[in-house]
Amino acid sequence: MPSHETPHFDSPNFNPLARIYRWMEYLSFGPMLERCRFRFVTQCRDAQNALILGDGDGRFTARLVSINANIQIDAVDASTSMLSQLRKRVDRVSPQASQQVRTVHDDLRRFSPTGTDYDLVASHFFLDCLTDDEVEDLIERISPHLTQRARWLVSEFAIPRAGLWRICGRWLIRFLYFAFAKMTHLQVKEIPDYAGALSRHGFERREQAEFLGGLLVAEMWERKVL
Ligand SMILES: C[S@@+](CC[C@H](N)C(=O)[O-])C[C@H]1O[C@@H](n2cnc3c(N)ncnc32)[C@H](O)[C@@H]1O
Repeated sequence: MPSHETPHFDSPNFNPLARIYRWMEYLSFGPMLERCRFRFVTQCRDAQNALILGDGDGRFTARLVSINANIQIDAVDASTSMLSQLRKRVDRVSPQASQQVRTVHDDLRRFSPTGTDYDLVASHFFLDCLTDDEVEDLIERISPHLTQRARWLVSEFAIPRAGLWRICGRWLIRFLYFAFAKMTHLQVKEIPDYAGALSRHGFERREQAEFLGGLLVAEMWERKVL
């Protein structure tokens, strides 16, 4: 059930990477991003309505729909080619899975959901495409559309706390931003403080897992009950 809206002209352009994105990832980080992305997916078997932000080629969405036959998913991305990969991947899961996913072509710096009952949000390696202010604004826009106990899964790069990983991590993240600026015209240059923004909007971090010495983190946040 795809729906299409027009994204804004200054969105980063991930279209040229859509077909090769997975292979770029495997060549550079092996299975580690995948492990990070799927770290908490099995805990989402009971989720009913999910909003997936910038899922790219749809590996998380396809996995989620394959383990949860009841969930309805809105998957939003600014790249038509990524969304087309996502649809193909979900269609391969099952005909029923296709019916469970709605794709929305929009820039998440402006997108406003229509539903009011998402109990799950997932953003895997997406919040790093936004600035501090844009993350704050996104969470503020989305929050009224979430249930009281909504969970938010995050996968992100992070600067490791200590040692050689910290020195290498800093340079690697700088290099990745440089490479993505060249390939997609992404203008963001550093990882935003999404943890601060989630906390300010009433979320608490329930679980966290680190990979590659802390260069990758998977987190599960939950909205505090007021
Ligand atoms: C680095 S990729 C990550 C893809 C996927 N979530 C993953 O785990 O591999 C970032 C994705 O976010 C999308 N994206 C980046 N900025 C966006 C924006 N402002 N609005 C909507 N989508 C955006 C890109 O098109 C791309 O598909």
